[in-house]
Amino acid sequence: MKDGEMPGTIDKMRVLVIGGAGYIGSHVTRALLDRGDSVTVYDNLSTGCRQNLFKDVSFIKDDILNYSGLTRVMKKGFDALVHLAAFKAAGESMQKPEKYSVNNISGTINILNAACETGIKNFVFSSSAAVYGEPEYLPIDEKHPTKPENYYGYTKLTIEGFLNWYDKLKNIRFAALRYFNAAGYDPEGRIKGLEKNSANLLPVIMDVAIGKRKELLVFGDDYETKDGTGVRDYVHVTDLARAHLSAMDLLAKKGESFIVNLGSDTGVSVNEMLTAARKITGKPVPSRVVDRRPGDPAKLCATSKKALALLKWKPEYSDVQTMVRTAWNVYKAHSK
Ligand code: UD1
Repeated sequence: MKDGEMPGTIDKMRVLVIGGAGYIGSHVTRALLDRGDSVTVYDNLSTGCRQNLFKDVSFIKDDILNYSGLTRVMKKGFDALVHLAAFKAAGESMQKPEKYSVNNISGTINILNAACETGIKNFVFSSSAAVYGEPEYLPIDEKHPTKPENYYGYTKLTIEGFLNWYDKLKNIRFAALRYFNAAGYDPEGRIKGLEKNSANLLPVIMDVAIGKRKELLVFGDDYETKDGTGVRDYVHVTDLARAHLSAMDLLAKKGESFIVNLGSDTGVSVNEMLTAARKITGKPVPSRVVDRRPGDPAKLCATSKKALALLKWKPEYSDVQTMVRTAWNVYKAHSK
């Protein structure tokens, strides 16, 4: 906020989006640009893509493991940073923990230290529902015990721990946004870059619909859920993106760190997603039931009451039809 400005009003912000060429990062960047903020994207393009770089961002292609690259860009001065640069395949993280330690943990320590060195105080962190592990009760609120079942979730929880300490010791103010299952694409069709090799349900279904993969493997149909398949709380990526803006504004206004769940509070099964996708795409989308995927809970569902109270955030696009339709609008252009 500038001197003399009325308290409570938020000036246009200068924001550094680390991982801004990725799936969620590009939607966050789009939302920031839409409201007139100035955005610098820092991304090594390992999973993000150039197609997601809007013409009005300033782009730095660099790695979060490069500390001097981080300080160089941060010295330009930012009101806030959003950190979404992470590997996110829960299954892979159990096979290759080293990869997740280096990128997710060491990379974030670099970002935190560089933020301290350059005086950036507001830190929006992309955390995950994976911090909770097997649910002890549903819906999951932020007080639910955190016992990650996979190493990916452990990296996110560990980083939340660092953020707590840097808050106490270095006055970094953070918002840790615990996403449930992000899905869908920008409803206006402005984001066209597909995720590379995503292992998540909707991207896999879309790949099958465009002929890039042969079939969807349904990981188990003997769960104690409505139709036996896994149930998740899917939240539209544009809804997630809006929450980042509100989180940033709240940090700037109140100067207090917080952790919130971001979900749609609705459970959708694998079969329900598949049925909706077949209908909307008009494609057969072949599927085959296989064994359960290790580490997969039967059902995950959030309560996002805290996000509503704190951020005045409510999902607007997170119904199954909108998530599938907006994803299909992007994927169908890649049909074989
Ligand atoms: C996991 C993490 C989540 C993280 C996300 C990012 C956990 C518990 N959750 O979500 O925090 O943000 O990864 O990648 O670690 N499925 C199939 N076939 C497929 C793919 C998925 O049947 O080919 C099923 C899964 O068994 C599950 C549902 O679809 O029931 C969603 O899976 P997925 O999209 O991979 O996300 P999560 O594992 O829930």
